[in-house]
Amino acid sequence: MKILLTGGAGFIGSNFVRYVLGAHRDVEVVNLDALTYAGNLENLSDVEKDPRYAFVKGDISRLEDVRAVFGEHRFDAVVNFAAESHVDRSLHLGAERFVLTNVLGTQILLDACREYRVPRFLQVSTDEVYGSLGATGRFTEDTPLAPNNPYSATKAAADFLVRAAHHSHGMDTVVTRCSNNFGPFQFPEKLIPLMIANALEDKPLPVYGDGLHVRDWIYVLDHCAAIDTVLRKGAPGEVYNIGGMYDVPNLDVVKKILAILKKPETLITFVKDRPGHDRRYAMEAVKIRRELGWQPARTFDEALRETIEWYLASKTWLNRVRSGEYVKYYERMYAGR
Ligand code: NAD
Ligand code: DAU
Repeated sequence: MKILLTGGAGFIGSNFVRYVLGAHRDVEVVNLDALTYAGNLENLSDVEKDPRYAFVKGDISRLEDVRAVFGEHRFDAVVNFAAESHVDRSLHLGAERFVLTNVLGTQILLDACREYRVPRFLQVSTDEVYGSLGATGRFTEDTPLAPNNPYSATKAAADFLVRAAHHSHGMDTVVTRCSNNFGPFQFPEKLIPLMIANALEDKPLPVYGDGLHVRDWIYVLDHCAAIDTVLRKGAPGEVYNIGGMYDVPNLDVVKKILAILKKPETLITFVKDRPGHDRRYAMEAVKIRRELGWQPARTFDEALRETIEWYLASKTWLNRVRSGEYVKYYERMYAGR
């Protein structure tokens, strides 16, 4: 099986490359990645010499880049991880790049799959397309899409384009919608790695609003196993929710990080809330369990501990990604907030 994986130098994509090469001997992976601020080939240094792995630098929103890859290889499947993925950037730094990559890029890939008759297309989507929950209930695959920020609006648009490709052109597509991931190689703009990095330096931990916004956390390798399961066994045209079934307020997560690192809770600093901040996400991931037999293998606590150990052992990686551009980003997002 030869897979085109887009965005494979990012957080989840790089974990998936490693996962899928380890899980299946007969898999080959071509990784098409534009290497934005979030893409980092260091995340893949242990697999770069594997003869079953190849890297191509390219942008999914540029037709010529995509056509060049499809012209050179014959793929059995495309898994689209490539995206602008950070909500705060879409809110504060402009959403144009989100539209180009997340919407136009997805359509360009779908068109290429159709033209080159690729048998299967998997779109890596998110629970954010469903919007926000009240105090009770969980998102199911039938929950209407109601995205609330520019990032999630572009992800929802992509989901609709995938749906249309299946409905109108009979393409074999599947969509996975997953909750908040954490684990090794996550860029420290996201909650868990940002809090770990700041706590390690005894810097303030900026918690938005009252800290009672709820997210449903899943370990990244559990997400990778779920994507692999849907890729192999999912029914054409279907959507599958994926979640860790561990939904808690942000403050609980931050306090657990501080406890593991033996740092004081006085580092917690409440800052101005994210505009339009979704209050609660919680996934009903029953369909994938019942129909495809997947379920998460790790508990949140053991996976969080392992993740923190990884960051402690990867200080060179962490320092490198937190230098240069990141310093400006942090200043712009958090100074005077
Ligand atoms: P990330 O930001 O860490 O990585 C994104 C990758 O895509 C980077 O390697 C980047 O260089 C690449 N990329 C960006 N624009 C590109 C373009 N135009 N062409 C080619 N490559 C491009 O993201 P992530 O957290 O690993 O998320 C991966 C996917 O999973 C995204 O589609 C995201 O929406 C989805 N998702 C993420 C989460 C989460 O909690 N992180 C949860 C559910 C779904
Ligand atoms: O739910 C899936 C989504 O999870 C993915 O689709 C996105 O790509 C991914 O970025 C993530 O989105 P969130 O906005 O939920 O993740 P983030 O890590 O940015 O924030 C998690 C929660 O923590 C959210 O309620 C905002 C809050 N937060 C975040 C940061 C970075 C803080 O309180 N302080 C912070 O500094």
